[in-house]
Amino acid sequence: MKEIYLPEEDSFFLSEILEKELLRLSNEKSEIKVLEIGCGSGIQLETIKKAGIKKQNIFSCDINSQAVKHCKKLGFNSIKSNLFEKIKGKFDIITFNPPYLPENKFDKEKDTTGGKTGSEIINKFLKQSKSHLTKNGKIVLLVSSHTKKINLGKYKKRLLGKKKLFFEELRVWELK
Ligand SMILES: C[S@@+](CC[C@H](N)C(=O)[O-])C[C@H]1O[C@@H](n2cnc3c(N)ncnc32)[C@H](O)[C@@H]1O
Repeated sequence: MKEIYLPEEDSFFLSEILEKELLRLSNEKSEIKVLEIGCGSGIQLETIKKAGIKKQNIFSCDINSQAVKHCKKLGFNSIKSNLFEKIKGKFDIITFNPPYLPENKFDKEKDTTGGKTGSEIINKFLKQSKSHLTKNGKIVLLVSSHTKKINLGKYKKRLLGKKKLFFEELRVWELK
């Protein structure tokens, strides 16, 4: 049985930024549909709810069925899906705290490592996201200074926040 990723610094940092972004957006638009890819423990889903997004407008998935089961128990709409494989529809916000670290011999965990450069899953995510964003929709994505070779394609990035940790800097980008 695969364990659920417990909230770490990256989770708390994304949560902080996501809440601010959602509160700001709620002033501009009444109904906001949000999708989280890789919901894990549900920390971001709780944040999204706390920011005033209606539960019926919060959607999530994880590749780990234990995480899906857990988030469903918390009352969230969650399905098992490899990125957007099973996701239908468009969203105003798509958020992801992805596996972003380059793989090494000590760490090959699916929760944290995104292949050799750290960006393998992120790049697939960015490609697939395009067809799931509403007209003014945006991505709120956490990355690390260790994540190399992110392929932004036509997305424009804006830095929403950064945080220095002991061995890396976390960054949260808005991508449109
Ligand atoms: C770093 S954890 C983040 C968990 C939680 N969102 C948080 O902020 O604490 C990454 C999550 O993404 C999930 N994940 C990894 N690859 C995935 C994929 N291809 N499709 C969907 N979820 C994936 C993992 O199972 C894990 O729950």
